[in-house]
Formats: sequence, C-alpha cells, structure tokens
Amino acid sequence: MILVLLGPPGAGKGTQGAKIVECCGVPKISTGEIFRDLAAAGTPLGLEARNYWSRGELVPDEVVVGLVNERISCDDCLKGFVLDGFPRTVRQADILAELLAGMVRKITGVLDFDVDPDQLVLRLSGRRTCPNCSATYHLTSRPPQVDGHCDHCGQSLVQRSDDNPESIRTRLVEYATKTEPLLAYYEERGLLHRIDANGSPDEIFRDLEPALVTMGCGS
Ligand code: AP5
Repeated sequence: MILVLLGPPGAGKGTQGAKIVECCGVPKISTGEIFRDLAAAGTPLGLEARNYWSRGELVPDEVVVGLVNERISCDDCLKGFVLDGFPRTVRQADILAELLAGMVRKITGVLDFDVDPDQLVLRLSGRRTCPNCSATYHLTSRPPQVDGHCDHCGQSLVQRSDDNPESIRTRLVEYATKTEPLLAYYEERGLLHRIDANGSPDEIFRDLEPALVTMGCGS
C-alpha cells in the first residue's frame, strides 16, 4: 500500500496519517517532519531548507526528491508507506512516479483532505507539537492531559515557527498555486479519493476506513 496524503496546511494530514499508520502498520514519511528534524540537528541541508519553510515557502524540488528517494528505499518501506506532504508540485509527482516505476511499484491511492478555509487558520494557530516525539495537539480540539506537556513523553510542547500568521498566509498561497493542481493530476489517473475533513478526527477516520481497506490496509 502506497498512499499519498494531500490537503492544505492544517487539513489534518499528520493527524489522520498517525491513525492510518496505527491501523495499517506501514511507516509514515512526512517531508515537513524530516526537514524540521534535520534543522534541529543543525545539518547543512536542514539549515538550508529552514530558510524556505520558516517563511512558508516550498523547499526546492531537487532537495526534497533526493531525501524521499533515500527514505522510500529503506527496508521498512517494503510493505508500503504513507507519504504526508509529498509530492507538493507536479514535478515532484512526475519524479515520484518515475522512482516507483524503477522499483516496479505504484501509488495505490491519494487521499485529499478537504476543509473549510476558516478552519485551517484556527487549526494551525492553536496547534502545539512535541519537539521530542512529534505528537501533535491543539489548544481546544485536542489539548494534552497535562497543560503544555506531551502525553507520550512529558516534553514541553512548542508552537511550530511556521505557524505564525505571515507564514500561514504564504503556505496557503503556495498550496493554492503549486500543490492544488495535483488534485486534477491524480483525478485523471483514477487515484483521487476526496475526504470531507471538517468533522472530528475520529469521525474523519471512520469515513476513510472503508477506502483504506479497499486499498489493502493491513494485508
Ligand atoms: P508540513 O509539515 O508538511 O506542513 P503542512 O503541509 O503545512 O501541513 P501541516 O503539518 O501544517 O498540517 P497537517 O495537514 O499535517 O495538519 P495537522 O494534522 O498537524 O510542511 C512544512 C513545510 O516544509 C512546508 O511549508 C514546506 O516549506 C516544507 N515542505 C514539506 N514537504 C515539502 C515538499 N514536498 N516540497 C517542498 N517543500 C516541502 O493538524 C493541524 C492542527 O489541527 C493540529 O493542532 C491538530 O490537532 C488539529 N486538527 C487536526 N484534525 C482536526 C480536526 N478534524 N478537528 C479539529 N482539529 C483538528
């Protein structure tokens, strides 16, 4: 099962991706998370990428595809994987198709999380994340059990540096101009499943479970 999660910033790709991983037993590859980890570790590539993502701009295609190629070639991806935040441009989608063809594999399905635009800003501005284990919370819709601390590892929660009003605006424009064309791209290829992602995380996951089963989740 090779699944692509599409949707604007704050649509819930990471939240639903975590549920999919638990249910389907395949790894989730989040390019945003990889960049944040590399920047936190102070690697040259991570610091270069931070110049882009901290402003809300997409990281150049050539930087992203090299990382993804390396990650999907790992042994834990043999049974399948979930791509969260990749591809994000038509060029990345074309390169992904070529990489997979070289491995005699192909995408099983693409889930597009569709959310009311006002909700996106509310979700992003209230998000808090754990810098240690990447768990995600929300001040009102998913607060941690102990205020300001991760339920899993106890670490102090932080606000992502790109979750500020200016970067959020840029991310939404980047999505509309560079990523949204992928909806038509994958629809033409018969791979797109549109998900109404306005409900609660559990309601959304209940709605997408049947699609996951037809795509081979758990098999
Ligand atoms: P990335 O980390 O992928 O960020 P994003 O796409 O902006 O998506 P988010 O992580 O902000 O949102 P999400 O959809 O995962 O929502 P979440 O589940 O957290 O990328 C960051 C940056 O890296 C990019 O801007 C770019 O610069 C760079 N980058 C990454 N990949 C790249 C690529 N391929 N090419 C070029 N550059 C790349 O939910 C958000 C909040 O809402 C949380 O607080 C959550 O608890 C809450 N929430 C979730 N679902 C619900 C719900 N149903 N109801 C109420 N609240 C909810």
